[in-house]
Amino acid sequence: MTRDQVSTDQESSNRPKERVLSLIKPTGDVHLGSYLGALRGWAADQQANDAFHGVADLHALTVEVQPAELRARTLQVAAILLAVGIDPDASTLFVQSHVHEHCELAWLMECTVSFGELRRMHQFKEKSEGVEGVRASLFTYPALMAADILVYDADQVPVGDDQRQHLELARDLAIRFNHRYGETFVVPEAAIPKVGARVMDLQHPTRKMSKTAESPQGTIALLDDPEAIERKVRRAVTDAASEVCYDPTAKPGVSNLLELLGAFTGRSPAEAAAGYTRYGDLKSDVAAAIIEALRPVRQRYTELAADPAGVMEILAKGAARASDVAAATLARAKTAVGLLRPDDR
Ligand code: TYM
Repeated sequence: MTRDQVSTDQESSNRPKERVLSLIKPTGDVHLGSYLGALRGWAADQQANDAFHGVADLHALTVEVQPAELRARTLQVAAILLAVGIDPDASTLFVQSHVHEHCELAWLMECTVSFGELRRMHQFKEKSEGVEGVRASLFTYPALMAADILVYDADQVPVGDDQRQHLELARDLAIRFNHRYGETFVVPEAAIPKVGARVMDLQHPTRKMSKTAESPQGTIALLDDPEAIERKVRRAVTDAASEVCYDPTAKPGVSNLLELLGAFTGRSPAEAAAGYTRYGDLKSDVAAAIIEALRPVRQRYTELAADPAGVMEILAKGAARASDVAAATLARAKTAVGLLRPDDR
């Protein structure tokens, strides 16, 4: 099913733009992996699409987080999204918990997904292993994520490679629901960038760069200052040989640096290797490319952080627009499953 067949909001009749939706959790520092795997693309593509982006604060509650920290991080991540170039006139920028339809549709998704499907999710296995008191919400997380996507009739979901399995599940649930109750949801597609979809930890290059990394030295935060970036790249783990070539299996550390250089210079990692004979030269260029790309982000963030009321105002407008779209989809889904509507006569 295509979005135009199911959309009920006003632009549906002659809307050539694709609907794009993607969120980020306000857990830990936003890092270079999320920037290259997702945020940079969100900003680059927003004019061509009907884009919805935001902060998945409800997802952050699936693990322990201090309330004051969650509030502060949510606002910070919204400011970072603006700083990387999300334009509130082009994209609908909102906080997930400001649009209550996400939770309501999540219940319908929990009634669509099977226990076995949730149990097979890699991220649940990784995040729950050896953890005491795992929250039920960590297990049902992909149902909420499917609701986030389906409630906006999203055609495309730009994400890093680690979200691939969650996206496949969201697609399966849309197809199953449509089959069971009649055409209701747009079946979304993952949009995963060719380069930068899986940025690895600089200290442990066989693990992805992550917000919960034990070693902050392996993770470059978007708000790191140039000295910290330089230091982290200099200390990045490579191998004992010194040949610069792209081979993620045999040379994961060097390959990750080439992936970063390629992502910042618009080349494939293999092309980026050309001309280097020493790791030191490669590291200097990687650090310089990251510092240059993140300089304007830090500057803009500093301005935005000084104006929290301005950011809140943008989020309020975004939530109002997001709610309009989400309410229409939710009403359709509730009717489809047979819930009696208060205005049914
Ligand atoms: P989150 O907050 O962990 O990450 C946000 C985005 O960054 C990408 N990413 C990476 N890309 C490349 N290399 C890395 N090392 C790296 N680490 C993170 C992620 O793939 C993601 O695109 N469940 C989601 C948030 C979410 C969502 C949604 C996304 C909630 N609802 C609906 C899309 C649609 C998450 O935890 O992303």
